[in-house]
Amino acid sequence: MNFNQKELVKSTVPILKTNGTDLTKYFYRRMFKDHPELKNIFNMSNQASGKQQHALAGAVLAYAEHIENPEVLINVLKSIGNKHVSLNISPEQYDIVGFHLISSIKEVLGDTATDDLIEAWTQAYNELAQIMISIEEGLYQSNLKKSGGWKGWRAFIIADIVEESSEVKSFYLKPKDQDLIGDYLPGQYLSVKLFVPELGHEQVRQYSLSSAFNPEYYRISVKKEQNNSNSPDGIVSNLLHGKDKGDEIWVSAPSGVFHTSFATDHPLVLISGGIGITPLLSMLETNKNSLQENPTVWVHSCRNEKVHAFKEHINVLNKDSQWLTTHVFYETLSEKENTSVKEGRIDLSELKDEVLIDNAKYYICGPEVFIKVQYNSLINLGVAQEDILYEEFGPQLLHFN
Ligand SMILES: Cc1cc2nc3c(=O)[nH]c(=O)nc-3n(C[C@H](O)[C@H](O)[C@H](O)COP(=O)(O)OP(=O)(O)OC[C@H]3O[C@@H](n4cnc5c(N)ncnc54)[C@H](O)[C@@H]3O)c2cc1C
Ligand code: HEM
Repeated sequence: MNFNQKELVKSTVPILKTNGTDLTKYFYRRMFKDHPELKNIFNMSNQASGKQQHALAGAVLAYAEHIENPEVLINVLKSIGNKHVSLNISPEQYDIVGFHLISSIKEVLGDTATDDLIEAWTQAYNELAQIMISIEEGLYQSNLKKSGGWKGWRAFIIADIVEESSEVKSFYLKPKDQDLIGDYLPGQYLSVKLFVPELGHEQVRQYSLSSAFNPEYYRISVKKEQNNSNSPDGIVSNLLHGKDKGDEIWVSAPSGVFHTSFATDHPLVLISGGIGITPLLSMLETNKNSLQENPTVWVHSCRNEKVHAFKEHINVLNKDSQWLTTHVFYETLSEKENTSVKEGRIDLSELKDEVLIDNAKYYICGPEVFIKVQYNSLINLGVAQEDILYEEFGPQLLHFN
């Protein structure tokens, strides 16, 4: 891209800031009309809620803002690349997305979209697509090289189902081909693909691996998302809760950038809200298995005891382990419940002495607002930004670092 083209792309930043999501909404409508088969891989609930349009608009805006120096976006691009790989996105699909994105810019901007501007955006998109394709190719290759690794969708059988709370079930998944399965880093997720009869097409969702790696199976733990006055039942989680042992589902290889390593050499502070417990449990179990047993503090909150998944499991670990301290909060606590649980929401400033540990890394997982609150509390307590890692269970909308 030449200097003028970069300036032209940067000149669209104010428009993207105010109208980026309108543009991406238009783009998705246009693309799905021409390529209805893509509804099989996009999360149609994220489309309905507008979250995915927002995530794409954020990425396009960030790229336009950093067009001089896109390397600063490398961590964000790696995270998107991991999601794409877990959805088996191919280089050819970048041409489809590029065509509809550029056509949408032309149509939405109307007369202000000069030929030069469109040419500049075409160049910018192609450069971004090349960066993403090469990140994704690297990830596909490393999955393929791994013992038990694979690319794309592989059939798995539900070997066991265990109730972890009134709304969470664990699924133990074994490959139908009975071959090896690849290992993963604690905190990573896999994608599950199911046919949804009411939509007439497939849908994919991500689920964190909720245990330390075990060569026999992958374990995921799924919360049944029930309807309320503003929102319908969650599609895939309800379908999964209706599955039986022996049923088959499609699974992609483990992926994701929110993880610890097999043997961490720093203390861990794990902070989870509700079903955000799953990736952190994998980190905790791996830490236990690694024999290093780094000091670990776990702060967890959920609505009440009934929905508290893995309660006994973590209590047992806690009793057996000098290196683990836990703090549990229920929004509502009934009188007969154990007094080691606190009532209310997590306030990290009150746990300052427990969570401020030299050289610790902080991992947060839970709903968007939960992450924001805990992140800001840690920053206010003086924790360095680079020591705080977090994962949203939906399209990435938060960008603190
Ligand atoms: C990296 C990652 C890891 C994850 N790990 C886990 C995990 O370990 N365990 C787990 O249970 N989940 C996990 N999730 C979340 C999971 O992927 C699904 O998002 C979740 O199961 C809900 O999917 P669903 O199909 O049941 O609900 P969806 O149909 O996708 O709906 C999601 C929510 O949106 C609401 N909604 C849908 N349509 C509309 C609409 N038109 N208007 C308003 N609201 C609407 C629904 O009521 C529901 O509350 C993870 C997500 C990510 C990205
Ligand atoms: C340069 C081009 C692209 C950019 C900037 C981009 C950006 C993004 C972003 C920001 C997300 C959300 C990431 C997350 O939730 O972690 C995402 C997810 C996704 N992308 Fe892309 N993407 C691009 C190309 C593509 C292509 C070519 C496809 C294939 C058709 C694709 C399919 C998807 C799907 C299916 C998701 C998940 C959507 C969901 O769960 O709602 N993307 N992309």
